[in-house]
Amino acid sequence: MSELAPPRIRIGRYNIKAGPVAHLQAERQRLEGLSWEHFDAAPHGATIGATLTGVDLAQDLPAPVVAEVRQALLDYKVVFFRDQHLTAEQHVAFARRFGDLEVHPFLKSNSSLRELVRFEKSPEVGGYENGWHSDVSWRAEPSMGSILRAIEVPPSGGDTLFADMGAVYDGLDADTRALIDPLQAEHDFTQVFGRSLPPEKQAEMRQRYPPVEHPVVRTHPETGRRLLYLNRFFGLRIIGLPDDESQALIDRLCRQAEVVEYQCRFQWSPGSVAFWDNRAVQHYACSDYWPARRVMERATVIGDRPA
Ligand code: SIN
Repeated sequence: MSELAPPRIRIGRYNIKAGPVAHLQAERQRLEGLSWEHFDAAPHGATIGATLTGVDLAQDLPAPVVAEVRQALLDYKVVFFRDQHLTAEQHVAFARRFGDLEVHPFLKSNSSLRELVRFEKSPEVGGYENGWHSDVSWRAEPSMGSILRAIEVPPSGGDTLFADMGAVYDGLDADTRALIDPLQAEHDFTQVFGRSLPPEKQAEMRQRYPPVEHPVVRTHPETGRRLLYLNRFFGLRIIGLPDDESQALIDRLCRQAEVVEYQCRFQWSPGSVAFWDNRAVQHYACSDYWPARRVMERATVIGDRPA
C-alpha cells in the first residue's frame, strides 16, 4: 500500500465499525489491471464478480476460450454471462468442460438430465436458499464450481449475492486467524436436507453421506489463497471445542460474509448464467419475490478434498 489507509472507527456503543475496508485495495487493483483475449470483462464488486461479454456458451468453445473463462473464474471468483439461451443439454455440455458433474442426492433435477438441479419456485414452493453457503460442503469432495442458468425470473427481486471468502479471511484480525488456522469443522447435510426426511430415510442417507471434516481455513488449490471455508447451513461444529464456543465462533466467522464490501450482487434476466467458484465464495439467493415464479437450473462441477 502506497499510503496509510484512513482508520476504521467504532461507532458509539454498538459493535460496528465504519471507514474504508482498505485491505481490499491490492486485490481490487490487481483485478483492475487484467485484460482478456477472448472476451471483455466488466467487474462488479471490489474484489468479486465480473460480467464477461463476447462468449456464446451454446457453442463448443475452443480450448483456449474455456481456459480463459476458467482463469477469469479464478480471478473474479464469480463470472456472469447475459443472453445465453441455452438448452439443458448445452448447459451440461458447457459445465462438463470444467470437470465431472455431480448428481445431487436431495434436490429435484431437470426431468431428463440428472446433472441439472432444478429450482422451481412458485406460490406453492418458497425459496429457502437465502442463507450464506458454499454448495455441498457436506460432501467429502465438495463442489469446485456451480453454473446457474435463469429460465424464468420474477418481475422484481430474486437476485443472488456472492461474498469473497478470501477477503473475509484477510479481514480477520491476526489473533482470530491464528486461532482458526489449524481448526477443522464438521459439515453435514441434515440441518438443510434432512428436515423433511422421515427418520429411517434420514438414517439411510446419513450412512451414504456421513458427516465430513474440512479445514475451517482452506488453501485454494489453484490460486493458493487462504479462504474461510465454513457456513452455517452445513457447518455443524468445530472439532475439539465445547459446543457453545463452537457455535459462537462459527456464528462470528460466518457473519463476516454479510459485510457488504466483500460482496457483489447479480440481478437475473432470462438467459443469464452465473458461474461461481464454491471454494472461493459463498452465495445467498434473495427470497424476496414470493409468490412470483423463479425457475433456475444448476450444474455443479465436482471439486477436490479441501486442504
Ligand atoms: C443455490 O443456492 O445454488 C441457488 C442460488 C439461486 O437460486 O440464486
